[in-house]
Amino acid sequence: MNITPIENKVFGAVVTNVKLANLNDNELTVIKTTFLKHGLLLFPAQFLSVQENISFGERFGELEFGGIPMANQEKNKDGTYGRIFELETQRMRTNVGNEAWHTDSSYKPASSKCAMLSAITVPDEGGGTEFVDTRAAYAALDQATKDRINTLSAYHSTQYSQANDVGDFPVQTEASIYHGEAYLRPLVKTHPETGIKSLFIGRHAFGIPGLSREESRKLLKSLLDFVLSDKSRIYRHKWQAGDTLFWDNRCLLHCAMPYDYSKARVLTATRVAGDPESELAYHPSDPAAQAGRDALAAELELLKEETVDRMFGATTTTSTE
Ligand SMILES: [Fe+2]
Repeated sequence: MNITPIENKVFGAVVTNVKLANLNDNELTVIKTTFLKHGLLLFPAQFLSVQENISFGERFGELEFGGIPMANQEKNKDGTYGRIFELETQRMRTNVGNEAWHTDSSYKPASSKCAMLSAITVPDEGGGTEFVDTRAAYAALDQATKDRINTLSAYHSTQYSQANDVGDFPVQTEASIYHGEAYLRPLVKTHPETGIKSLFIGRHAFGIPGLSREESRKLLKSLLDFVLSDKSRIYRHKWQAGDTLFWDNRCLLHCAMPYDYSKARVLTATRVAGDPESELAYHPSDPAAQAGRDALAAELELLKEETVDRMFGATTTTSTE
């Protein structure tokens, strides 16, 4: 196995001369160590099947989901891909929302541990995925900012981020990711396996308790701007069919990149659940959940007025997709 750190970046490595579909225990041990160190691993030319994606993900823990299409095309029963979804559908609205920086599943009771994407069909232009290392960003903060944010937390909700980023107000249902809950998480995260601190922010974060709405927005924006202010912390991946990317959601942010939505873009997505000891905020049944629910409802009320100029114009899709 060859491990090559990504050039001129403070994180990420390319791993070649290994078959993820057929790993031995030694190789897995090396990959796990490499993963913790570099945060992002690129395995080119793997061409994994759905089951092979699932099996590799499961070696890192229990899955939130495994081998599902992250696509703008409908998957047919025979496994082929058919019509391309309209931009107006909720699925595409959600995909477009993910073009803003985020960490996966911070809007669920337990935030994600790590995630994996494997490319099947990629457009010639655009449609990449970008990553940024929030460990390096935290380490580079001045001491006064570290002291200020060390005890602060923010609520996380993807109903908030959809509204705030693209003016999309999905139908709220308990069973979907648009469930009306918001989960409070510290701005500074200590990685449960490495002990390294990072900034845990991104598009889902809002409403820092103890700060005014304006101060909270300003602080979250300034922290994200700081994270993105150094190119050595940012890696932009241009997909090739067969690539598999595997990353640590506990210390990186990522975002999808725009492309011509009439062209096919099909990736297979697998997400490993966070360990409850380190990634669980609380459950909806916990009394602590009420404050998040209230904060989200109040925020959405204001955003409904403020987001008419954004992509989806403060609307709810009429599409049943
Ligand atoms: Fe994501």
